[in-house]
Amino acid sequence: MTTAELSAFARDVLHGLSKTPKQLPSMYFYDEQGDQLFQRIMHMPEYYLMNCELDIFEQQKAQILNAIGLEHFHLLELGAGDGYKTRVLLRYFMEQSVDFEYQPVDISPNVLLELEQRLREELPELKVHSLPGDYFKVLHEVKETDATPKVVLFLGANIGNYPQKRAAAFLRHLQDELNPGDKLLIGFDLKKDPDVILCAYNDPAGITAAFNLNLLERMNRELGANFNVQDFRHWESYDPVTGATRSFLVSEKAQHVFIKALNRSFHFDAWEAINVELSQKYSLPEIESLAREAGFQVEQHFTDDQGYFVDSLWCKV
Ligand SMILES: C[S@@+](CC[C@H](N)C(=O)[O-])C[C@H]1O[C@@H](n2cnc3c(N)ncnc32)[C@H](O)[C@@H]1O
Repeated sequence: MTTAELSAFARDVLHGLSKTPKQLPSMYFYDEQGDQLFQRIMHMPEYYLMNCELDIFEQQKAQILNAIGLEHFHLLELGAGDGYKTRVLLRYFMEQSVDFEYQPVDISPNVLLELEQRLREELPELKVHSLPGDYFKVLHEVKETDATPKVVLFLGANIGNYPQKRAAAFLRHLQDELNPGDKLLIGFDLKKDPDVILCAYNDPAGITAAFNLNLLERMNRELGANFNVQDFRHWESYDPVTGATRSFLVSEKAQHVFIKALNRSFHFDAWEAINVELSQKYSLPEIESLAREAGFQVEQHFTDDQGYFVDSLWCKV
């Protein structure tokens, strides 16, 4: 089989496991089992990100709507997931009779189906138009076909999955797909007590470990790999200088893993790690310089009471 005939997942696995150090893209965490494990992570007490952003929306939804300041818009959410926090805004916007349509975008069709069903039950009057697919593919199609003013949501500190330089390129690309006056409400996790951060990504119940190790199980299920998951360990690090929080899967012994879809084996040295996720933490000045670099104007920051998290409203000028 040529590389062009492989699925995108198989191609990315081939590329990532051939690199030194080994690396896999975190978007592949989210298959059906990964989605379920992530829902459990979001409701763990240690995963403060969820509660902080929820708190911001519950306490400051009126200020957020006021700062958006548009009469009529499409609320397009990148990586909507289960939309749990977004529902606070959706409900409030409806109570205020705001003229808007909700457009959740997600690469996982399971997630969108569940979200649509929940919204039909909870907010039957809400106008919903799901857009399955990759962020930029969808954004580009929308730009070509629809000139309605947009408010883009990119929540949950998802931008932290990109290294800072790539985050700037991602946001610049996003800015290119918007029209002047469109807004972006974007969540960032802020630099804070390193122990608080490490606990959020390494909970004692092992839910995050199971979530990360599911990536190996997914390769077994979908690519016919023969990973022995018990021979790998989830390991987390936080660098308080750069703000980089990294998740690794560490091979506890020297071993070969065969991947049928690629018809090849990969060697792991004892204690060799696969880098599986970055969760970048930011300071407010770093966020402001990122916005400038990407060509946005910062309009307002909304932070929680503890100062752990910020949802920042930006405008394309
Ligand atoms: C960490 S979850 C966050 C969910 C939600 N935004 C929140 O804050 O709770 C990330 C979601 O983004 C989706 N996703 C990841 N990469 C994507 C991509 N390139 N294009 C579209 N969706 C993506 C995943 O399927 C997942 O549902």
